[in-house]
Amino acid sequence: MRRAVCPGSFDPVTNGHVDVITRAATLYDELVVAVLVNPGKAGLFSVDERMELLREAVADLPNVRVDSFEGLLVDYCRGHDIPVIVKGLRAVSDFEYELQMAQMNRELAAVETLFVPTAPQVGHLSSSLVKQVAKFGGDVSRLVPKAVDERLRERALREAGS
Ligand code: PNS
Repeated sequence: MRRAVCPGSFDPVTNGHVDVITRAATLYDELVVAVLVNPGKAGLFSVDERMELLREAVADLPNVRVDSFEGLLVDYCRGHDIPVIVKGLRAVSDFEYELQMAQMNRELAAVETLFVPTAPQVGHLSSSLVKQVAKFGGDVSRLVPKAVDERLRERALREAGS
């Protein structure tokens, strides 16, 4: 079985992530979307919320499942018999750091990285920009899955009321 992992913070999942996941899912028998548990960084959404939003976003992709991991990604790969990491590349600015990580992961555990260029329509998207826009009441409904948009609106309203 050809298996790959698509790792990230996903705080929250955007249409850019969904684009990469959807296309990577056509290349593998099973694609695991793995949310990083980072005890040093709280984030806007809890890991459980991020996973719930991801599950909803990939519900129509039968060979994609959502999981979480803590520590080194290569240890997760080794423990789950996953030989390939899939990463989206939005622009040249992503490439330098992504290349370093890919080389490090290969050195650590011979895990390969496959880069998927994002669709141009979503090349400007990042979770942090989406959060910033949503926080100040901007419309992000075309940039994120519906459930994420709803959750961001709830948060913005709650913050405005507090
Ligand atoms: O969505 P992000 O925040 O860009 O994802 C980054 C992520 C989670 C893929 C990266 O930080 C990672 O792999 N973290 C796990 C720790 C690790 O393995 N670090 C060494 C990378 S060479």
